[in-house]
Parts: sequence; C-alpha cells; structure tokens
Amino acid sequence: PTAHLTLDPRFTVGAVHRRVFGSFVEHLGRCVYDGLYEPGHESADEDGFRTDVLELVRELGVSTIRYPGGNFVSGYRWEDGVGPRESRPKRLDLAWHSLETNQVGLHEFARWNDKAGSELMLAVNLGTRGVLEALDLLEYSNVRSGSTLSDQRVANGATDPFGVKMWCLGNEMDGPWQLGHRSAEDYGKIASQTAKAMRQLDPDVQLVVCGSSNSQMPTFGTWERTVLEHTYEDVDFISCHAYYAERNGDLASFLASAVDMDHFIESIVATADHVKAELRSSKTIDIAFDEWNVWYQERFHADDQITDIEQWPYAPRLLEDQYHVADAVVFGSLLISLLKHADRVTSASLAQLVNVIAPIMTEPGGPAWRQTTFFPFALTSRLARGNALRVELTSDTTTTTDHGDVPVVDAVATHDPETGKVAVFLVNRDIEGPTTVTVDAGSLGDVQVLESHTLHDDDVYAANTLAEPNRVAPVENKSVRLENGTLTVELPPVSWTAISLG
Ligand code: AHR
Repeated sequence: PTAHLTLDPRFTVGAVHRRVFGSFVEHLGRCVYDGLYEPGHESADEDGFRTDVLELVRELGVSTIRYPGGNFVSGYRWEDGVGPRESRPKRLDLAWHSLETNQVGLHEFARWNDKAGSELMLAVNLGTRGVLEALDLLEYSNVRSGSTLSDQRVANGATDPFGVKMWCLGNEMDGPWQLGHRSAEDYGKIASQTAKAMRQLDPDVQLVVCGSSNSQMPTFGTWERTVLEHTYEDVDFISCHAYYAERNGDLASFLASAVDMDHFIESIVATADHVKAELRSSKTIDIAFDEWNVWYQERFHADDQITDIEQWPYAPRLLEDQYHVADAVVFGSLLISLLKHADRVTSASLAQLVNVIAPIMTEPGGPAWRQTTFFPFALTSRLARGNALRVELTSDTTTTTDHGDVPVVDAVATHDPETGKVAVFLVNRDIEGPTTVTVDAGSLGDVQVLESHTLHDDDVYAANTLAEPNRVAPVENKSVRLENGTLTVELPPVSWTAISLG
C-alpha cells in the first residue's frame, strides 16, 4: 500500500497544549503502593519514593497528573491522607476491594509531583460527598493561610499552598458501578453547585465536568447534553474516557481503534457546541480526555475480588496488563487522534502511570522497566511541539469488521514556530506488508531529517517483561529519505513511527 501527505505550517489545527501529555495516578492495585512508593526499596529516597520510577516518569515526559481516582475517589475522604502518618485510618476501598492505608495522601503526592516535574490535578468526590467537602479540599490546597484548613496544611508541613489549577468534578458519574452514581440531571445540578462554590473560593480554578464513561454507555450523548445544559457556564472542560483492546483475535479492527476515538471526540465536540448554540453562549467548552489507553478489561472481573471483607488485600496486583507491540501501535495512533483534535482536546491523561494499565512496571524489591507503550508516549511528548498540523492525507484502505474501510496509514504533524522544527507521527495498520509514504515537505524550505524512530517487531505480540525488560524498543528508520522537498519513508507492517525535521 501507499499513502501521501503534505506538511505545511499554515495548515494549523491548534496549539499543542502540554497538558495533553498528562497521566493518571489512582489508589488502585500497585500504582501507588509498591509502585511509585516503596520505602524499603534500594532506590527509595527519604520520602519512600522509588527514584528508578521517578527517572522513568521524567523520561516519559508527563505533564499534569490526575489524582487520586478514578472509581477510588467516589469513596475517598481526603482528610484521611493528611496529618501524622501513624494516626491515619485504614479504610476499605469499595471500588477495588482493597485495604487503603493512607500512607500516601495529598502532601506526599504533591511532593512526588514536584520531584517528577509534573502538575497536580485533583478530583473531588461527588459520589459519596458534596459541595462542602470539595470546598474544604480546595481551601486546604489553595488558600495560603489564615483559615482553619489552610493553617492545618501549614502545620502539616506545607507552608506554600499546593496551588492546584485543574479539578475534576467527580469521576464517571454515569456508571452504575460508581459509588453514588447519579442521573445526568442529578449530577448536572450538583456539579454546577460545586463548580460555582469552588469558583467563589478560587476564581482561577479550571473545572472538568464528567462526560460519559465510554461511548458504549446507553446514555452517551444525552448525558453530555444534559450535564452541560446545567453546567455550561460553570466549567471549562468535559471529560472523555476510552479504552481499547483486541477482541476475538480481530487484530485489523483493533489496529483501527483510533477511528473510533476520532469519532468519539467529534461527537462530544458536536454535543458541546449544540449546547453552546442552545444557550446562545459565547464560550467554548474543551475536552479533557482524562482516561485513555489500551486495556484488556475482560481480564478483570470486579466480582472475583469480593472475598472475605476482613481480608481485603493491600496493594494487590490488579489491572497489570502486559503490553505488546500491536498494543503500542494502537496506543501511538490514539496519541495521533488526540493531536489531530488539538483545537478542542487541550488536556488528556493516560490511564494510568505505574503498574496499573501502565507504561511503567515495577517489581517489589526489584527493577522498574518500560512497557512497549512507553515509547510512543515519550517520543510524542518530546517531539510534538508548537502547533498541530493537518496533513491532508490520502491513503490506501483496508477493510475491518468493526470500522469498515479505514486508511492503512494515519498521521499528524506538529510545527514549532520558535525552532522551526517539524515532527510527523505515522501509523501503519496494514498487517500483511510495508506501506510506502511520500510526504510533500516543499513548504518547509531547507530542512534535514533530525531523527526517526519506528516501533515494530516481526512478532506483533512481543512484549517487555521482568525476565526480558528490553525485548522491544524503537529503532531508527533507515528508509527515510528527504530529496528535493519530498520525504519518503517505508513503514513496516503494524508499526508506529516518529520523524523529526529541522
Ligand atoms: O483506570 C481504571 C478505571 O477505569 C478508573 O478507576 C475508572 O474511572 C475507569 O472506569
């Protein structure tokens, strides 16, 4: 197959916001405990954080990190995680049937964020709590001093406020599995009240209202419309969540998952803009795609976890998907989809960060390593700078069961007006053979190929494991040529590629 695209800095979609390279840390399984926090580990620092994990997090290039859930937040009392550690309560986490010791809470996670160089984004509990508790957390976090809760934070060791800008108003409130699940009407009302109250305390907060848990939810679309009708003027973002997986051995459909993500984003943009028209508003709502990834959900059955309540485990191995090459190719294509919609997707969180459906894995007392999905994220975060560009793609197509005929190649580019550098991100969904791509780069003037990386393996199911942590990694794509303003590259079957020019 062949494909053709054009690079022109004038074809701007929108600025690439750094927050698009966010991630998500939930108190779930071994994400926090025995993941980023393991006081007994040989690499642990004075706060008990694994420095080998911190190094990988920095290399991954994550911006904002959403915390502390996820489903966990709907049963969470943030006060449990502050103050002297020895007096913090042990709680039963109903979302994941685990024991929560609260040894990591707001202060510890804020400190970890400083070390990781990331921005803290908090979720408030709108499942089992309400406006007052959200206000308390905001006062504790963002008010300098002089009130009971801000003084309590100072007494607990943080003189400076945490200064949290991004706040999620609950999590997946449309899902029947969610503690305190509500109808769109009920959620829209409490989200609006909470948002208004939070802004009375701190007018600078940026607020994310819950969209649907996924595009298969029976209320998809109407949920967003109703919730936004209640909250449109109170919030800045609506959330999207999407997880993809290969089902029934249908690799071709799986490889085209980003077609669904494109459609998902465009549907929510249309719905938000419909409410904008209905309300005659001059404001535009953006998307915070605050959970996205490949996740083999059918391997996890919550009911399997319901054992004797007195024996709910601490830091169990939950949702520890091992990602292979095809997963990483789809993952890279999901990043392409986010960038293609840079005008409206201005924040996103890869769910999650360590051990739980994660790009970084750890072994207690042992090493930390990069999953296959680590590479497209790290490279895209490093190279995608400036503005996202439309690439006017023409491509041969392939037929899939779930998505019909889809282009074998998907692509997006970025252009940094400050450095003049251009990056192109490409995916080849063809299972059988390579695809030759020609790129009209004439408008870029006198540029060179600075770097190229292709993630591919003859075994599409090859993965990095504890036993073989470096089995899969991207390599230079030696086929790249740039002559007379035309770039050509051969993309191996089932592969993801990044090329930087400048
Ligand atoms: O990321 C895992 C879970 O997926 C989150 O807790 C929840 O919000 C979503 O359903």
